[in-house]
Amino acid sequence: MFRPSSLYQYSHTHVASSFKSFFFFIPTTLALLTSLSILFYVYYTSIIFTHHHQHNNQQSTLINFKSSSPNFILPSPTPHLTNTLHNNHSEFIKSHTFQLGHGLGPQSQRGLPPQSSSNGQNKHENSVFDGSRKFKENNNVFHDRDIFLEDYKEMNRSFKIYVYPHKKDDPFANVLLPVKTEPSGNYASESYFKKALMKSHFITKDPTKADLFFMPFSIASLRHDRRVGVGGIQDFIRDYVQNMIHKYPYWNRTNGADHFYVACHSIGRSAMDKAPDVKFNAIQVVCSSSYFLSGYIAHKDACLPQIWPRNENPPNLVSSNRKKLAFFAGEVNSPVRINLVETWKNDTEIFVHNGRLKTPYGDELLGSKFCFHVRGYEVNTARIGDSLYYGCVPVIIANYYDLPFADVLNWKSFSVVVTTLDIPLLKKILKGIVNSGEYLMLQKNVLKVREHFQWHSPPIDFDAFYMVMYELWLRRSSIPILLGDS
Ligand SMILES: *[C@@H]1O[C@H](CO)[C@@H](O)[C@H](O)[C@H]1NC(C)=O
Ligand SMILES: *[C@@H]1O[C@H](CO)[C@@H](O)[C@H](O)[C@H]1NC(C)=O
Ligand SMILES: *[C@@H]1O[C@H](CO)[C@@H](O)[C@H](O)[C@H]1NC(C)=O
Ligand SMILES: *[C@@H]1O[C@H](CO)[C@@H](O)[C@H](O)[C@H]1NC(C)=O
Repeated sequence: MFRPSSLYQYSHTHVASSFKSFFFFIPTTLALLTSLSILFYVYYTSIIFTHHHQHNNQQSTLINFKSSSPNFILPSPTPHLTNTLHNNHSEFIKSHTFQLGHGLGPQSQRGLPPQSSSNGQNKHENSVFDGSRKFKENNNVFHDRDIFLEDYKEMNRSFKIYVYPHKKDDPFANVLLPVKTEPSGNYASESYFKKALMKSHFITKDPTKADLFFMPFSIASLRHDRRVGVGGIQDFIRDYVQNMIHKYPYWNRTNGADHFYVACHSIGRSAMDKAPDVKFNAIQVVCSSSYFLSGYIAHKDACLPQIWPRNENPPNLVSSNRKKLAFFAGEVNSPVRINLVETWKNDTEIFVHNGRLKTPYGDELLGSKFCFHVRGYEVNTARIGDSLYYGCVPVIIANYYDLPFADVLNWKSFSVVVTTLDIPLLKKILKGIVNSGEYLMLQKNVLKVREHFQWHSPPIDFDAFYMVMYELWLRRSSIPILLGDS
């Protein structure tokens, strides 16, 4: 008895609710259909508008790009970038190929017909770079020298940095203090910067006067510290930042936007994974500055140039003895390097060397017109600094590299930036530059920008230290609220 009635009750309510939901269903369905029609309309019109675009050669750029570096895995861009700038990876790649093409990438400039990766090279042959590239546009090494100099003076006069202190007996003082010895090795830039900063006139002990706040942990020291090591860096940073946030009021005013840290080793890019607010809000001054890494946010973060420390100036900086067209030596540890070495290993003018050289490295850089900076595991290597030091015009083959001091320096005036796609065309491109006389301009400018890519202790005006300070100055925009505690 109980059962059927409850069953009845059940079906009764069920029917009633179906009835209700039926009337609910009609308007919802209508709304849905309308939305779908709107979406379809938008999609259809956007096809019409972008139709032309899709049929130009840019699309094949993407295909070629993939085929020329078979193992190249596209890391996912930051959610930030994806949401605000590019809803579509191909669009993202396109726009960057365009930018990196720098007026050289024939496919990005000349409106070539689409090409497949198999015959791409031949098509290129007919239309490439013929030496008539317009290079009159802006040969100055600065985007705007006057503005830079004026702004630099103001920076030098008024910029103030507060460094988070630590207890005298802090067991990790070694990680927080600058190194005592002369910085050395591939990641010396981090140590040079910190050393110079701590002794500079930019430091203030009064946090209310500070434009920016420096978190002085050293990724390089943490990596070598047995108590932390590579596996412990993320936890260390998380704890450091949490303590800082609780103990001091400064972070909370801007959620870290006026805070920064400096790191050269590429491990730095995952070091903030347990401190996401640092990654997304603070200014990260890092060597591995790739537009395509989720840990690096262009414009907010800044590129720290990776520079091998050297003191004395090399002889013969001018170009007269530069007999070789171009030179590369190094570990062949990336698809791009494999591509370069495979393409040019037998050439008589472009010298690419797999592994260690028998001749002194410096002699090769002094004897070549162009020196390649080729993406290895990372976009950054010390090779840009090396080329400039030896007066060799850098050719940068590292897609998505946010180049050092690009806010200030006009890279087109002293370097050649090509996409990895252009590797088969390198000889044509570079010979065109030499034959048109543009090379002389580039090389002259290399000698002008050298000073910005050198560290000194103590630092000297316009050297790498001051340039990084200037990059920070450009990013100091946040206006912290006053703290009403004193
Ligand atoms: C992205 O854009 C490309 C070229 O404009 C197009 O071929 C592709 O279908 C788009 N992908 C998506 C997921 O919209
Ligand atoms: C920058 O400041 C330092 C220290 O006050 C000073 O010695 C130097 O001349 C300044 N440079 C410029 C270009 O103003
Ligand atoms: C800053 O904000 C965090 C989270 O809201 C809070 O836990 C912390 O105590 C604040 N710091 C200070 C110094 O008030
Ligand atoms: C380079 O030379 C080697 C040996 O002479 C030859 O087997 C190879 O195919 C050549 N490679 C290229 C890219 O020309």
